[in-house]
Amino acid sequence: MRLIGQNSCSEYSTKSKIWHGEAYELVNLDFTPKFDLKKIAKRPFNLWRYREAIPIEEEAQIISFNEGGTPLLPIQFKDGAKALIKQEYLFPSGSYKDRGSSVLITQAKFLGVQHLVQDSSGNAGASIATYAQKAKIPCDIYVPADTSVAKTTQIAAMGAQIIKVAGNRKETAAMAFEAAKKSYYASHCFNPYFFHGTKTIAYEICEQLNWKSPDSIVLPAGNGTLILGAYIGFKELAELGIISKIPKIIGIQSRHCNPLFKLLHNPSFDLTNYVAEDTLAEGIAIPNPIRAKEMMKAITETNGNILQVSESEIKEAWKEMASLGFFIEPTSAACIAGLNLYLSGLVQPEICVSLFSGNGLKSIEKISKILNIY
Ligand SMILES: Cc1ncc(COP(=O)(O)O)c(C=O)c1O
Repeated sequence: MRLIGQNSCSEYSTKSKIWHGEAYELVNLDFTPKFDLKKIAKRPFNLWRYREAIPIEEEAQIISFNEGGTPLLPIQFKDGAKALIKQEYLFPSGSYKDRGSSVLITQAKFLGVQHLVQDSSGNAGASIATYAQKAKIPCDIYVPADTSVAKTTQIAAMGAQIIKVAGNRKETAAMAFEAAKKSYYASHCFNPYFFHGTKTIAYEICEQLNWKSPDSIVLPAGNGTLILGAYIGFKELAELGIISKIPKIIGIQSRHCNPLFKLLHNPSFDLTNYVAEDTLAEGIAIPNPIRAKEMMKAITETNGNILQVSESEIKEAWKEMASLGFFIEPTSAACIAGLNLYLSGLVQPEICVSLFSGNGLKSIEKISKILNIY
């Protein structure tokens, strides 16, 4: 097990506090999981049941609330289309990000990290703050000044220091990046441990389908913690011979912020100066994802696609899910609108899985606008 810098190909020990390569480039984990289906069958249904597939040293103290093991429920849209939905809004901090945080903060604790820095549009910050609180590691969370009150309140309640940045998501990330040079960057985009937490969604889905993979998986596409996590997880299971194929990965973006959609249709599109418009789907409002190249590889290698949805489609999908009793974030509704779009284009029926990524209680202001109340 080792860390590898993407540009320099330099190698680093997983026992060092490394979150970047020599030129501050991204690092990835080189890790081959061992896996014994019989052994895990007796364990509780949470993400740590896949312990040997998670790149954490045996002696580490696991920082966990027994998160994971979320239900996989069938839904039917009013046009008759069907899919299975992983209930990822049922996590301690209210979003699937807890998968990544549990693994990342476990590693940080193991390394003896004394302070950490994170930046987020809200959910990742709230999640990292929750796990840092449990691990007793002080942390600073950088958020854009317009982040929802629910999310900043949650972060503050978890004892983290909030730094509000008068700028967009990109400027917030740049400030956190500078601060992290003197701390440890618990970034859900930079730090590779996060992706080895989010990958457990693939393990759970396959187990819930009796160790078969779905035909397709429809995921929101922001910074790629789900797309890349799912890609790593399904790939590992295929390499271990546990599943026979990797599902098509379909990424969903808002038409108001669709850098990957643009890149898919024009590979020379320059993301650096792309300016997005406001969208209800704040969690995926990422104009220039730092792992865009890796995300595109995951999409193309799995024969997947990137679809885009309008603001009115997001509202309609939110209302339809609410009519079925699901109270989700508008960002999650964007993914569900994309799921509906994907299913409507299918020639043959597929086993298609998607998710509810975040709890609606985090976005009351936006939801009250959808409902036209207050
Ligand atoms: C509710 C919600 N859904 C989806 C996402 C998608 O993010 P990513 O592309 O990093 O998986 C986010 C990110 O913050 C989010 O908060």
